[in-house]
Amino acid sequence: MTSISKQFAVIGHPIKHSLSPHIHLLFAEQFDLPMVYEKLEVELETLLSSLDKFKGQKYSGLNVTLPLKHDAYLLCQELSEKSQLCESVNTISIRDNQLHGDTTDGVGLIRDLINNGINLNQAKILLVGAGGAANGVMADLIECSPPTLHLTNRTIKKSMLMQSYWKSFAIKNSVSLKVSGIDGEDSFRYDVIINATSAGFSSNISPIEDIMINKETYCYDMTYSVETPFMKQAKNMNAIVSDGLGMLIEQAAESFYIWHKKKPKTKNIKSQLKKLKLI
Ligand code: ATR
Repeated sequence: MTSISKQFAVIGHPIKHSLSPHIHLLFAEQFDLPMVYEKLEVELETLLSSLDKFKGQKYSGLNVTLPLKHDAYLLCQELSEKSQLCESVNTISIRDNQLHGDTTDGVGLIRDLINNGINLNQAKILLVGAGGAANGVMADLIECSPPTLHLTNRTIKKSMLMQSYWKSFAIKNSVSLKVSGIDGEDSFRYDVIINATSAGFSSNISPIEDIMINKETYCYDMTYSVETPFMKQAKNMNAIVSDGLGMLIEQAAESFYIWHKKKPKTKNIKSQLKKLKLI
């Protein structure tokens, strides 16, 4: 039997250090699937023309990363329910010259939290951030029906806007969605704090105050490849800390499933990336 290599790429800016090609190729190896997966530098200004170009070429699918996820959502001809809700696309399937957009970031986060032993339907959760990354995981977080889901952000008005945007979906899933200050003054204790801000790249200061963390708090940072001030803070408080590498692998697994209808094993991917000296 002869199999033809399908062609995929991840697009974004900057893209040089993306691990996606390596992760997808490791998944493909599990099924002896011939596949080409590239990384292509695409800036916001050229996204529309680039997507038009990709449609006419041999690509079967694209992963979309920062800062293009919202604009990719605006440009796809068809959208999954979840990407419509989150207004974000990280996975594009190209069929019949049409772009079908989906988002797998939320699934990636939830699977990684579960892999780390978090029982989401019993966890009091604080989500820090109100940008694309935070909104991109909201649908899946709400669907897990945590007893508490609080939002906070440096610009608290944006958390309030986010709360009103997600209110009806939260009610539908019996989730009480509240906005909390970043100072922990309401003295609420969280089981899980998820950092979805980009603060790790622009500042040396954690986006929340120490008082919000204790040694039982599970602190998850959606960032990977750098130790953010939030991660350092959580370590100093002797809390349990995870970076977002597991989320990256799990969201990639879901993209892989969308494209190939095959579920790759994710358990050994981190050690394989380590062996390849990629992390
Ligand atoms: P992304 O798509 O990565 O979410 P974004 O939409 O620009 O990017 O959102 C960035 C998020 O990180 C916002 O919540 C932002 O807070 P503001 O809304 O107050 O700008 C947050 N953020 C960025 N730098 C930060 C910093 N130094 N401290 C705290 N929060 C920060």
